[in-house]
Amino acid sequence: MLNDTERQWLESVITKLTAKMDAVSERSRNKIPYTTVNGVHDDRAVDNTTGAAADGINWWTNGFWGGMLWLMHHETGNEKYKEIAQISEAKMDRCFEEFYGLHHDVGFMWQPTSVANYKVTGNLESRKRALHAATLLAGRFNLAGGFIRAWNDLKDEDTRGWAIIDCLLNLPLLYWASEETGDPRFKQIAVKHADTAISAFVRPDGSVNHIVEFDPFNGGVVKTYGGQGHEEGSSWTRGQTWALYGFMMSYMHTGKDEYLQAAKRVAHYFIANIPEDGIIPVDFRQPEEPRLADDTAAAIAACGFIEIAKAVGGHESRSFVSAALKLLRTLDESRIDWSADTDHILLYGTGAYFAETHHHAIIYGDYYFMEAIFKLKGNDLYLW
Ligand code: GLY
Repeated sequence: MLNDTERQWLESVITKLTAKMDAVSERSRNKIPYTTVNGVHDDRAVDNTTGAAADGINWWTNGFWGGMLWLMHHETGNEKYKEIAQISEAKMDRCFEEFYGLHHDVGFMWQPTSVANYKVTGNLESRKRALHAATLLAGRFNLAGGFIRAWNDLKDEDTRGWAIIDCLLNLPLLYWASEETGDPRFKQIAVKHADTAISAFVRPDGSVNHIVEFDPFNGGVVKTYGGQGHEEGSSWTRGQTWALYGFMMSYMHTGKDEYLQAAKRVAHYFIANIPEDGIIPVDFRQPEEPRLADDTAAAIAACGFIEIAKAVGGHESRSFVSAALKLLRTLDESRIDWSADTDHILLYGTGAYFAETHHHAIIYGDYYFMEAIFKLKGNDLYLW
């Protein structure tokens, strides 16, 4: 997949990642980080203590720290990463006890923690947690519309009919549950949701909607929303990456060619819109100024491109590998803090176009950068 120069660059990045994570994992061993404040990880396990709080222990990103540690465990064989990963996994049991704050992102939360732990160590407590999460996810399926409900009601919004493109990344938990138990129901729900995503989210030009609202009683499409992007009909870049990598995940679990074709369509659209300097905006259709960027989208896109390259093989694969390399090299060269004294890796993540702050550390940017780098190396632990 890589030539000698590219491989040398990759090795240099892995050396830097290993040195950085050796220090950060120790400093943050008892935390579940989302971002950093003055270079120090915050802790979502203590920021909010009530079960209904969306941004405390139930925060959708709480699995990524564990995922980073399992990737490092696989890469280095160092047992300390396994021990630290298990600390955050156990803390998340509070979500099951309190129940009310949970949402469709249980896949993001328990796939890189409990499913990873079970696959690597055979831990039966982890298997139980992951099946519990998969059952909650399956319970959010809307039969009339063939979609998984995303969020619980927001302050001013009835969200019973809302589905979001990000949910494709939660589906591997359902595929895993069917593979693990032999019960086809979980996979049937995942396939139905992925099929609905192709018909209701992907636009003719290969771009995707963030939010689609269905009538929760008869299942018809009511309207679309711009969500975390600039406006309705725009093209939130992280949403495009959830689509292109998410459809690949469904392809990898089912072998259905429609999912590979959908992933390629969105990927071609994304590649055609990568700016010359390789820096990904928050929305491909945002105003020229301010130049808001989201490096998390670059890292997720790279993961998807590498998986597409592996699936298509041969000559066709090179354009996807080149696009992944362009994004990852841009991050390495100018958008990462490699100092072992700070806890973040990527510096310029953005949660949403209209968020209060932009260009800050976000844990899933670090996670997907790491995943992409180990994928390129070729002996990665595939967590999804
Ligand atoms: N899944 C929510 C986000 O990408 O911000």
